[in-house]
Amino acid sequence: RGADGVRPDLAGRHVLVTAGGTREYLDPVRFLGNASSGRQGYAVARAALARGAAVTVVAANVALPEVAGARTVAVTSAAELRERVHEVAPSADVVVMAAAVADFRPQATQAYKIKKESAAPDSIALVRNPDVLSELVANRRPGQLLVGFAAETGGPDGGVLDHARAKLARKPVDLLVVNQVGAGLGFEVADNAAVVLAADGRETTIERSSKDLVAHRILDLVVEFPIGHGD
Ligand code: CTP
Ligand code: CA
Repeated sequence: RGADGVRPDLAGRHVLVTAGGTREYLDPVRFLGNASSGRQGYAVARAALARGAAVTVVAANVALPEVAGARTVAVTSAAELRERVHEVAPSADVVVMAAAVADFRPQATQAYKIKKESAAPDSIALVRNPDVLSELVANRRPGQLLVGFAAETGGPDGGVLDHARAKLARKPVDLLVVNQVGAGLGFEVADNAAVVLAADGRETTIERSSKDLVAHRILDLVVEFPIGHGD
C-alpha cells in the first residue's frame, strides 16, 4: 500500500483521461459549449495516480488547478481533443473518456466578430463531429480498456438507464459510467452518483458521494479487467 493507504493496482499502467467540455467557436469570442467542469475527470486522474498509474489528462477548457503528477494537455475544440487523444491512446492501457465532447460544430467559424448590425443569421449551420470514443473502439488494441461516460436525462421514449443501455449497444466500451444530469447532480456540482454498465451486462450502482470516491469506485471496476499486454 502507498503512503495514502491506496493499493497500487494500476502500477505500470498508463491511463489517459479526458476531462472538461469542448468549445466550438462561431467567431473569435463566441462558442457553443457545455457545462462540464472537468471535476469528475480530474478526480479519476488523481485516483489513478494514487493507484500507481502514469496519467495523461487531455483537458478541454477546465478551470481547475492541474492534477499534480499528471501530464496535462490542454485542448479547446472537439477536433483538437480528437487529435490529442489519438496521439496518446496507442500507449494507453486505459482510456477514460470523461470529457463532454461536442456532437456538432458550426459549419464555419467567422474570422471576425459577428456584429449586431450585420444581417441576423436565421440559423447556425452545424456539422457533425467525429465520435472519438467510437474511433477508439474501432482501433482498440488487445488489452486496452475503454471507459465511456454518458450524461443522460432520459426522455419521452425511456429513462436514463434505457438510454444508457442503448448507448452501450451502439458504442461497445468495457464500462459506461452513467450520470443522471439535472436535478442537482452531474455537471458543476461537488457530488456525483452513477450507475456503471459493463459490456457483460453487469450494472453497478455508485451511491451519491464525492467525485473522488466515485472515481475510485470506477477504478475498482477497471482493475477487475485483465489490462495491458499479455498479463
Ligand atoms: N464522445 C466522443 N466523441 C464525441 C461525442 C462523445 O468521444 N464526438 C464520448 C464522450 O466522451 C463520452 C461518450 O462518448 O465518453 C458518450 O457521450 P454522450 O454525449 O453521452 O453520447 P453520444 O453518443 O454523443 O450520444 P448523445 O449525445 O446523443 O446522448
Ligand atoms: Ca453527445
